[in-house]
Amino acid sequence: MQRLAILISGSGTNMEAIVHNTQPGGMLEGLCQVAVVISNKPNALGLEKAKALGIPVICVPSAGRSREDFENDLLDVLKGYQPGLIVLAGFMRVLSPVMTNAYRNQIINIHPADTRAFQGVGGYRWAYENGLKQTHITVHYIDEGVDTGPIIDQMSVDIEQCKNVEEVTQVGLAAERLFYSKVIRNLLVKELKKEVLCAGS
Ligand code: GAR
Repeated sequence: MQRLAILISGSGTNMEAIVHNTQPGGMLEGLCQVAVVISNKPNALGLEKAKALGIPVICVPSAGRSREDFENDLLDVLKGYQPGLIVLAGFMRVLSPVMTNAYRNQIINIHPADTRAFQGVGGYRWAYENGLKQTHITVHYIDEGVDTGPIIDQMSVDIEQCKNVEEVTQVGLAAERLFYSKVIRNLLVKELKKEVLCAGS
């Protein structure tokens, strides 16, 4: 069973959906467990949600610290939980080589738009203000850039009928909550198949 560490900064609705999907009947049941939820913001709403779900939660504050100092502390915490996959879910920090070298191809992120068209914060606002008919939610590996890592999968969501940015966000987040677990499932199943092939060769 793969161990996930989920990193958040805010409301944690994607994190919540992933945790639910690891429970009996969920699409991630038997494939992985959420070992820990870590926030860089002490007041992140998602911390309370994770606690209520019985998941260990830890805050590693980032405010006023250098990226390297913060990430060295993050690495220390992560070592205690031995995650095979680190899932960024609304984690609003760009990671430096301290983290990306330690967990190369093991850190993934979800983004509200096509990362080739828009990077950074506010993807749904960007999609709405640019009059997009669809936004292409993207799950990608993390590298040292801002939403520049290799794309794993994308999902197109119709937003043409949405009347304001709040509606776009609502529709988009509902899609993210399903899509992120699906992508994680595909990654883990692929990994398992590789292990079986290696064991047989
Ligand atoms: C999600 O829309 C996610 O795609 C976005 O933050 C939101 C977090 O929501 N991430 C980015 O914009 C990353 N560049 P949540 O905390 O409710 O899961």
